[in-house]
Amino acid sequence: MDDRPIGVFDSGFGGLTVARAMIDLIPAEDIVYVGDTGRYPYGPRSQEEVREFARQIAAGLVGEYGVKMVVVACNTAAAAALELLRFELDVPVLGVIDPGLRAALRATRNQRVGVIGTVGTIGSGAYQRAARSLRSRAELVCAACPGFVEFVERGETDSEQVHVLAERLLHPVTAAGVDTLLLGCTHYPFLARTISDVVGREVVLVSSADETAFEVKAILEETGLGRRSPAKGAHRFVSSGDIDTFRRLGRRLLGPELDQVEAHSWS
Ligand code: DGL
Repeated sequence: MDDRPIGVFDSGFGGLTVARAMIDLIPAEDIVYVGDTGRYPYGPRSQEEVREFARQIAAGLVGEYGVKMVVVACNTAAAAALELLRFELDVPVLGVIDPGLRAALRATRNQRVGVIGTVGTIGSGAYQRAARSLRSRAELVCAACPGFVEFVERGETDSEQVHVLAERLLHPVTAAGVDTLLLGCTHYPFLARTISDVVGREVVLVSSADETAFEVKAILEETGLGRRSPAKGAHRFVSSGDIDTFRRLGRRLLGPELDQVEAHSWS
C-alpha cells in the first residue's frame, strides 16, 4: 500500500489517452500528468534533446511531486529515453512501446502490422528492436506521420485537411496490406476515426493506452505499490505551455477529471 501518486508525461495532450485508461482501470490511484506543451512537438527534435527533456520531467515528477512510478506516455520520449530513465530513477518506469506492440502482435492474423508514429519514433528503430526482443515473426511496416500531432494539439481531429494528409501518409501501410495498425504515438487515438476511414474498417487499430494501463496495474500488484482505497484518486494536470488552452482542449479530450491545470516550466 503506497499513497504516492503515479507520474505520467507526454509532450502535450497525447498522453491523456493513457491517463484516461489509467483513471478508468485504477480509479483509486492519484495521478500527476505533465504535458510539455511549451516544448511540443517532440517528434521532429533530436534524440538527445528529447532525452534531456524526458530526464528533466521524470526527475521533477520523482523529486518535486513524489511519484512512486513514472509512465512515459509518449512514444518519442520512450524511444529516446526509456532505458536511461530506468537506470537513473529508483522508481519503476514504464513506456508505451512494448505494451502497444504486444497488443498489435496479438491482434494480427496475417502477420503484417503497420506502425505509425512521429519522425523521432520511427527513425529510432525502437519498434523493430522491440519486435526482435519479443521474438516476433510478424513483418512491421513503419511510417512516420509528421503533422498529425500538430492537428491534435490544435484540437483539429477530423477536418478535411487532416484527412488529406492521412491519405498521403498512410499510403505505405495500406499498400502493404497490413491487417493491424498500431498507433505508435499517443496523440493518434484522437485521430482514430480519420485513420480508420483512410485505412479501411477491416484494419484493426491498436492504441497503446489500454495495454499500458493494464501493465501499470500489474506492476502495482507485483510490487505492492497499489493504493487500496474506496475513494477516487486525485488527478493533477501540469503544463509547461498555456494553461487555459490546456484546460479547455484537455478537458475535451480527457473528460471532466481535467478540471484545473498548474503551470510549470522546465526550460
Ligand atoms: N505523443 C508523442 C508520441 O507518442 C509525440 C508527440 C510529439 O511529437 O510531440 O510520440
